[in-house]
Amino acid sequence: MNPTLNTFTPAPDLLAGRSIAITGATEGIGRALAKGFAAHGATVIALARNLDRLESLFDEIVGAGHPEPVLQPTDLEGFRADHAQQLANAIGNQFGRLDGLLHNASLLGPRLPLSHYDPAAFSRVMTVNLESAFLLTQAFLPVLEEGTDPLVLFTSSGVGRKPRAYWGAYAVSKAGTEAVMQLFADEGENLSKVRFASMNPGGTRTNMRAQAFPGEDPMSLPTPEDLLPAYLWCFGAAQDFPLNGAALDARAMLGLS
Ligand SMILES: NC(=O)c1ccc[n+]([C@@H]2O[C@H](COP(=O)([O-])OP(=O)(O)OC[C@H]3O[C@@H](n4cnc5c(N)ncnc54)[C@H](OP(=O)(O)O)[C@@H]3O)[C@@H](O)[C@H]2O)c1
Repeated sequence: MNPTLNTFTPAPDLLAGRSIAITGATEGIGRALAKGFAAHGATVIALARNLDRLESLFDEIVGAGHPEPVLQPTDLEGFRADHAQQLANAIGNQFGRLDGLLHNASLLGPRLPLSHYDPAAFSRVMTVNLESAFLLTQAFLPVLEEGTDPLVLFTSSGVGRKPRAYWGAYAVSKAGTEAVMQLFADEGENLSKVRFASMNPGGTRTNMRAQAFPGEDPMSLPTPEDLLPAYLWCFGAAQDFPLNGAALDARAMLGLS
């Protein structure tokens, strides 16, 4: 069940004092959210591969007078448990806690029938989109447990909730993402203060969307910035909502068609 955010106006300091890690923070939805979270007071821990884009994100956030982000150049391809633990240790040493974790990075991968799908590409998409999110969540649980209203938000997709032909490993990874979210949520209920939820951003004007739908007019789609209130609400204003285990839809929350 999606909350309706028609009347939600985020306070400028909604996320003041919070530290929130975002994977895939250099482009598209992740970059817009990193800047938007920082603009509402959060210290963003930005994970992605591209150092130039990470540094330009840093410059934009600091240049706007917002809290200095922490850059963690990270390749989620070939990601392993010890990589996740190193990141968790770094965050623990610097902040002593983590208030939010947004699993946003993903690869689209080939759009082919599974009968023709390259096994190496399948494995790559599953590692970046699904396995890394599991490993990061598991390693970050102790620092999240020290956080304020801690939330782990997994990024889903329409094809993760209902698989569609030719979406290949991407659809499998997103269906698995929903399962991982639900298991963490159910297993932590009444035991942990960390909440787990998933968000389907819906069609959004990004490079990944253009790659998936090359014939579509990008101007017909909401921008990543348009989605910001849904994510701000989750990380900063959903204390009274039964968020744990929720499968959310940003466009429905925001009344975007
Ligand atoms: N856009 C849509 O219409 C739409 C719809 C439904 C769901 N989603 C989901 O929303 C999320 C964001 O999508 P988007 O459209 O914003 O994607 P995007 O524009 O392609 O951005 C993807 C981000 O992921 C990072 N990334 C890719 N591979 C990585 C790797 N191996 N290691 C670390 N980071 C990696 C990229 O940064 P670097 O290149 O710097 O590493 C980039 O910042 C994804 O989970 C996607 O599945 C999007």
